[in-house]
Amino acid sequence: NKIKADLIVCHADQLITMAGASKTPKHGCGMSRIGLIEDGAVAVKEKELIAVGLTPEVMEKVEVGPETMIINAAGKLVMPGLVDPHTHLVFAGSREHELELRLKGLHYLDILKLGGGILSTVSATRAASQQDLLQISLKYLDQMIAHGTTTVEAKSGYGLNLRDEIKTLIIHRELNTLHPVDLVSTFLGAHAVPEEYRGNPQEYVELVVGEMLPAVARDGLAEFCDVFFEDGVFDKEQSRHILISAKKLGFKLKVHADEIKSLGGAELAAEIGAVSADHLMAVSEEGIRRLAQTGTIAVLLPSTTFCMMAPQYAPARKMIDSGVAVALASDFNPGSSPVNNMQVVMGIACRQLKMKPAEVISAVTINAAHAIGRAGEVGSLETGKRADMVIFDAPNYQYLMYRFGLNLVDKVIKDGKVVV
Ligand code: NIG
Ligand code: FE
Repeated sequence: NKIKADLIVCHADQLITMAGASKTPKHGCGMSRIGLIEDGAVAVKEKELIAVGLTPEVMEKVEVGPETMIINAAGKLVMPGLVDPHTHLVFAGSREHELELRLKGLHYLDILKLGGGILSTVSATRAASQQDLLQISLKYLDQMIAHGTTTVEAKSGYGLNLRDEIKTLIIHRELNTLHPVDLVSTFLGAHAVPEEYRGNPQEYVELVVGEMLPAVARDGLAEFCDVFFEDGVFDKEQSRHILISAKKLGFKLKVHADEIKSLGGAELAAEIGAVSADHLMAVSEEGIRRLAQTGTIAVLLPSTTFCMMAPQYAPARKMIDSGVAVALASDFNPGSSPVNNMQVVMGIACRQLKMKPAEVISAVTINAAHAIGRAGEVGSLETGKRADMVIFDAPNYQYLMYRFGLNLVDKVIKDGKVVV
């Protein structure tokens, strides 16, 4: 008695399963294993994968009825839905004027010091209604899924007071019910020191720890807590204090680490047992060693380096060769990375991070899923996992990174339904 399939995708030139990769999550050295099958197929029942393999094998294993939808993917690439494990999704306004300021030579952190940057988005976001923010964010999610992203992590951090941080986190929850993309919520109350606390960051840290974190925990509004540990933002002691307090309340941890200055962000992430350390453009040798040791995932954001026109990309090669598990994300935000297309991130990762195409594939699927605690459900195409996948108009996976700057998505399947 075979199970009747609702949907079969068959005859893919290349099917990337990432099978097995999920069993060695914490070793970057396994990043070239992508579980490639030629003439591959998958079968779906409701939201779940019921068979994955060679087309004749899959056809043999499941029952095909009159209602079974069959998609012939000949000439195409089929792979797990892309996972974007670091975004600042919910914000109002945009900051295109900063592009010219930066071209004139003003530094990102100088713009922030002048009350621009993150703080100008904070003003716009505080002023926006929940309804408006919801509509803006839905539009961004539409763009993301149209480019193949089926799961995103989203951080608060443009509210910077109890009311507006909670407002943002409630929008995360609404988006999760309103949009097919799955959203993992992160509290980033410590994204910047708000104007009201200028010159008094410690008091703001106490507000985050004393009021915001307990309120967020009580209402179950975020699964992760993150901190922007950076020169002139939050220092090591403040970051540690916030993250350790969050851990005690049951949050999983992330750190914006060593983005601009080398401050020991990776070391802190490893010390406190963070799931991921993100950015890492200025990571130290010791930081790399510690990440490899603890299995903390390095989430790299090359579209940020590109958009900031920063001199130094994260040393991805050194990390992978040292056994660090690397994931890639868009860092989508109105300042340092107005990019929500993971295909662009993948193209930059190959050329600037010198990651091999197979490593890039691992970094946007299973490793990205690990970076947000979802590797049990998504990030690979295996029996029992969620039927989230992308059909790309590409004859092989290398082609995805080789063609740069256009959308190669043919179809997106989320929870077993064709949504794009
Ligand atoms: O990840 N680094 C801090 N936060 C964002 C930028 C946010 C912004 O500029 O609005 C980032 O790059
Ligand atoms: Fe970020």
